[in-house]
Amino acid sequence: MAFLLGIDIGTSGTKTVLFDEAGNTVASALGEYPLYQPEIGWAEQDPEDWWNAVCKTISEVIAKSGVNAEDIKGIGLSGQMHGAVLLDKNDNVLRKSIIWCDQRSSAECNQITSLIGKERLIAITANPALTGFTASKVMWVKNNEPELFEKVKRILLPKDYIRLRLTGEFATEVSDASGMQFMDIPARKWSDDVLGKLGIDKSMLGKLYESQEVTGKVTKQVAQLTGLKEGTPVVGGAGDQAAGAVGNGIVKPGVISSTIGTSGVVFAYSDKVTIDPEGRVHTFCHAVPNTWHVMGVTQGAGLSLKWYRDNFCIEEKRTAELMKVDPYVLMDEEALKTEPGSNGLIYLPYLMGERTPHLDPNAKGVFFGLSAKHEKPEMIRAVMEGVVYSLRDCLEIIKGMGIEINEVRASGGGGKSKLWRQMQADVFGTSINTINSSEGPALGVALLAGVGAGVYGSVAQACDATIKVKTSQSFDQGLFEKYSKFYGLYRRLYTSLKSDFSDLAKILNT
Ligand code: XUL
Repeated sequence: MAFLLGIDIGTSGTKTVLFDEAGNTVASALGEYPLYQPEIGWAEQDPEDWWNAVCKTISEVIAKSGVNAEDIKGIGLSGQMHGAVLLDKNDNVLRKSIIWCDQRSSAECNQITSLIGKERLIAITANPALTGFTASKVMWVKNNEPELFEKVKRILLPKDYIRLRLTGEFATEVSDASGMQFMDIPARKWSDDVLGKLGIDKSMLGKLYESQEVTGKVTKQVAQLTGLKEGTPVVGGAGDQAAGAVGNGIVKPGVISSTIGTSGVVFAYSDKVTIDPEGRVHTFCHAVPNTWHVMGVTQGAGLSLKWYRDNFCIEEKRTAELMKVDPYVLMDEEALKTEPGSNGLIYLPYLMGERTPHLDPNAKGVFFGLSAKHEKPEMIRAVMEGVVYSLRDCLEIIKGMGIEINEVRASGGGGKSKLWRQMQADVFGTSINTINSSEGPALGVALLAGVGAGVYGSVAQACDATIKVKTSQSFDQGLFEKYSKFYGLYRRLYTSLKSDFSDLAKILNT
């Protein structure tokens, strides 16, 4: 029996999971690390923390599983996208990595847009300049830390720094590299045009692979450190969203995923490059050769319910602790005490500004329609419904781009709630399915490793061999119509409030 290792270098920690070739989890381990926020809106991590967590979790998984290291046929790397790891000529890390959620680079986004031109930038990189993407972070260092930038010889994404340490190879792969904004997305290669205009030398970027290709092998030193076998192949892997999609079987037309994690993502496969000219959804290379994906990202999905839980559900948290259940289970029970539509209470989930569809860092959260008859069940339900309306915004743009949607698979922490899944079915007007595994990105890259190592013939075949639909909830036509009326109002509320959000930001910034 072949075993495959998936390593997901996330923001709160690294999760390493060993799978058998049927996709069953054999053992897993988590290693956590801090997030540094030296100023409001800044977010940095220490690449050494990632490396220590990767080594610790690999050793733990091998020890726990009792699997012979020789039987681990391949390793796949996934991770938080967009972060910039900057190395000098001796491969020493020059500064903490500025990671995906850091917002310091809006001036650099304007600079990138004016250097390349808005339309040309979207035509080449398939996206407008965003503070979240690597290019603006690198330009920030270039503008603000020029002496440090002088020393930069290599620019890597988080998981590709780990690849360098595991294998000694300086490489990346198309799905994660798409989020750097240095690539020609239709051509699946680095863009000389973009790099030239931004003054970034191509030698600073790793060799570009397709996601299932073998990029290097575990070194002797790493084998001694972790218990892996020297020479175990490490494939390209994928950015966490594309990896999670492979782990959910989103590798063919018609099947899309709706993920409620901290942020919310609607992810669709596409066998051609499909770009939203307004840049409201991201178009990136998918982890399946010659295919792309489109994803809408809403910033405050699970984050909204967590915010509500931590501030207003102290009782539920205490009771949950006594009952040894998840507080979200009790919050679902509360929400079920009221009607779909929350008796007219509507929540806008813009606690962290918004990406899709508004691309507005100034947008803020709103409860609209509050009256004296509303109680906690309506508040909780409205938060959950607001998040789903925001996912519907993503879905509508994707539909409008002509992408086929036959099946929606729910995933992420929010996908575990039957109620939240039912809301998605009724708000989207589609049935909502779940699959047999909830390992997402780690499973996705383990499957890519299996393709690279020859265990499976293709990514689609790997998914067919391991991923099965487990539950299916259909939608209620009456509720779809009811929710659609509230959704129309939800959409108009942002338009009505847009200039007020901007005025509020001005007041807060003075
Ligand atoms: C994708 C994105 C996040 C990060 C962190 O565009 O910003 O998914 O990869 O998880």
